[in-house]
Amino acid sequence: MQTRRLSSRLCGLGVAVSAIAVLTGAVWTAAVPAAHAATAQCPWMDATQSPDQRAGELVGAMTLDQKLSMLHSAEPDMLAYYGTAGHVAAIPGLCVPDLVLNDAGAGVGDGQVNATAFPAGIAQAASWDPNVQQQFGAGLGWEAWHKGINVMLAPGVNIDRVPMNGRNFEYASEDPYLAGQTGAAVIRGIQSQNVIATVKHLAANNQETNRMTVSADVDERTLHEIYLPAFETAVKQGKAGAVMCSYNQLNSVYACENPALLTDVLKKEFGFSGFVMSDWGATHSTVAAANAGLDMEMAGSNNGQYFGDALKTAVINGQVSMARLNDMVTRIVRSAFADGLFDHPAAAEPDGFAAVVNTPAEATLARTIAEQGTVLLKNKDGLLPLDGQGKKIALIGQAAGAAGAEQAYGGGGSSHVPLAGAVPVVSPQQGITQRGAANGDTVVYADGTSVADAVAAAKAADVAIVYANDSEAEGTDRTNLGLNYGTCSLVACAQFPVSQDQLIGAVAEANPNTIVVLNTGGPVRMPWLGQVESVVEAWYPGQEDGNAAAAVLFGDVNPSGKLPETFPVSENDLPTQTTAQYPGVNGHASYSEGLRVGYRWYDSQNIAPLFPFGHGLSYTTFSYSGLRVSRTASGASVTLTITNTGTRAGAEVAQVYLAAPAAAGEPPKQLKAYQKVFLNPGQARSVTVPVDSRAFAQWDTTKHTWLITPGTYQVLVGSSSRDIRAQSSLTMAAKTLAP
Ligand code: NOJ
Repeated sequence: MQTRRLSSRLCGLGVAVSAIAVLTGAVWTAAVPAAHAATAQCPWMDATQSPDQRAGELVGAMTLDQKLSMLHSAEPDMLAYYGTAGHVAAIPGLCVPDLVLNDAGAGVGDGQVNATAFPAGIAQAASWDPNVQQQFGAGLGWEAWHKGINVMLAPGVNIDRVPMNGRNFEYASEDPYLAGQTGAAVIRGIQSQNVIATVKHLAANNQETNRMTVSADVDERTLHEIYLPAFETAVKQGKAGAVMCSYNQLNSVYACENPALLTDVLKKEFGFSGFVMSDWGATHSTVAAANAGLDMEMAGSNNGQYFGDALKTAVINGQVSMARLNDMVTRIVRSAFADGLFDHPAAAEPDGFAAVVNTPAEATLARTIAEQGTVLLKNKDGLLPLDGQGKKIALIGQAAGAAGAEQAYGGGGSSHVPLAGAVPVVSPQQGITQRGAANGDTVVYADGTSVADAVAAAKAADVAIVYANDSEAEGTDRTNLGLNYGTCSLVACAQFPVSQDQLIGAVAEANPNTIVVLNTGGPVRMPWLGQVESVVEAWYPGQEDGNAAAAVLFGDVNPSGKLPETFPVSENDLPTQTTAQYPGVNGHASYSEGLRVGYRWYDSQNIAPLFPFGHGLSYTTFSYSGLRVSRTASGASVTLTITNTGTRAGAEVAQVYLAAPAAAGEPPKQLKAYQKVFLNPGQARSVTVPVDSRAFAQWDTTKHTWLITPGTYQVLVGSSSRDIRAQSSLTMAAKTLAP
């Protein structure tokens, strides 16, 4: 059902925002209509006042019913407000705009058309480049704003605890520092466009199996050191306006009615001044949820069930104080003031949902992110890049063809960005054929449903490129880490004679120059790894799929992405070996592996991964020298020189890990800083990265605060977590840090 939007013109001033005029802009500066002047009716429209002052004045002028209307969706079900995930109604008499909520982290979704399909969150994270990530956020916010959307339900920063989790492709990393930095950069970008960013899903929402009910049983130290820091960074550094609490229970209490999580940690310890909204249908109570710290109930078919009339009754009979109700509303409007929603209202219809925002500039941004996030996993004998002239290339696999690429460009679920009809995904077949032609190469395509045809094409070619993919989606976990049959739903699976693993094996046997390109949302097993020359992880690359892949394969772009997640050899190596850990028993998932998540596990158990965390090759080489570490007032400073020792320009991500003294009880090493550096051939650059005192601290469960265990901390700098190039150390004294 499609209903028209309410007008978001404010105070009868008729502020029409001309969106179209700026839609071709390549720079994501916000389009700003003149700010509303304060009127006698709405004195809080005086933008010279602080968000706190303005929120206080506005809430002071609201009736009880107006306050309550801010706390839940206006529609009886989320589909009623077409193209959104939820909607809080405007209060025109008080100059309060509609809040229009939309998914999510790979572009404007929820059925909106003519929006850009960007690479998935994991691809964004794999760039290890906060500038690229912030630009993405700004592009996303820009598109949203021009469509009349002012609350984006992104980014997701849950930790990739279990590689099978069906939503890891939406998230950033198995590492809290990388996840936090990535999330904060995306938030800064989104919120630069007068749109609130919503960091999600707090907390320990690490599996889709039983996601609505499972209790993540996590000890206090692990929670603080692994599962919460990315949210802390999103709130403190990114200044996220909103946080979404998750479906699951945390230590037997639903996240959205968990006072320890929402009030003690998020609001008090992290100092979060924005609002907490529930995931859709994740509110389970009125009094308990409101008093625990939930500020807004979202949404679905039971919207307003708990925070509508039931909350009114609870306030009237004193079960929820008026002070708490005011706090809930204040937090919502405070974020709306702080992020520009009042002063720069999002485009209204007719520009609104109809706006065509998938502009060429946005496509270029999507392509850049895909290129920067692509990880070169293996490149034996330098088969890549494909230079030279007049090659015969066999391109094989469904994900490389038009229909397959339309499946493989993104993951499934609420973050899915529909293709915009007029601008379909650029398939690898299209991108590689076109780019190859510039070298005089010819490309023959075989979809791989006939192994005989694929083998024949590979035999007749100089080089074979095989595409393989998986199909991850919200709502279900992968059952294993196999590539299996990829997009075979396109063609009935029964027609598939072999799995993708078998197809790759057959092609590799037919052609010694075989390259595998993966479109997966996370790690997969690679039983054929020893048989192929090169492997490229292109993730879910968004609409510029084929162009980005061609740029990397042909060397127009030198790959510089690094793995945000460990690729294990097999499921047998995972930190979650028991069903009690994953997917859980009797409704409880025991996080008994503690701090040993991702590479922390592989390091502590001495298990060699297939590809380690932080790994990613380049077409050039880099050397590390001159490592110097010194103490500073705020922690430490790490200086080193990186030199491009090869013949091509390229970028390296210098990764700084700390190894704590044994008494600290930490895993062998942990990422605490990184810096991406672009260098021309022969160029050297000195890089200085700060390492915060917190990087040296451990969460103390007696004092419930951060303590630096005294002793010698090794500082390990390298090109991946298993490729340490330089080492130094720093002795730290015992110290208690403010949380
Ligand atoms: C449920 C998902 O978990 C969440 O990420 C999303 O934002 C909401 N649905 C709204 O679509």
